[in-house]
Amino acid sequence: MSMADELLITGSNKRERYESLYPQLQALLSGEDDLIANMANVSAALKEGFGFFWVGFYRVLGDQLVLGPFQGPVACTRIAYGKGVCGTAWKEGQVVVVPDVDRFPGHIACSSLSRSEIVVPVWSDNRLIAVLDIDSDQLDTFDEIDAHHLVKICGLLNG
Ligand code: SME
Repeated sequence: MSMADELLITGSNKRERYESLYPQLQALLSGEDDLIANMANVSAALKEGFGFFWVGFYRVLGDQLVLGPFQGPVACTRIAYGKGVCGTAWKEGQVVVVPDVDRFPGHIACSSLSRSEIVVPVWSDNRLIAVLDIDSDQLDTFDEIDAHHLVKICGLLNG
């Protein structure tokens, strides 16, 4: 896929939409080995394809997560290990799904409009190098369908 091509995300439910997005992202990312550029395009594709409130990456830099490429309102720039949903996903090395952010102890509110959230680790050479964070302005947006497909998409970011 050339840089100027647009993504075409089709499907009547989110599983179909993820399935139509994945091969297009695979083609787009395989032509580029810069991690930041690829994180930027993943953020844009997910924001545009699903209309999420906020989509972005936090990269592991030393003992903190630092804001990386994202789409949406300005956000907190640094998150400590084990803190918030992002720092918890980093510490546990697992996907964290939060149906209601007000019920997640220690949730970091970058925006008061965020109601539910999913955070997915990004691995490279068996190291957790970043997390993908997606926020919704609705309750209970994310489930195992999102988790499954977002893990696959993050698997494309192994540069
Ligand atoms: N809510 C996240 C912080 C990042 S923002 O949502 C963009 C957390 O608790 O880690």
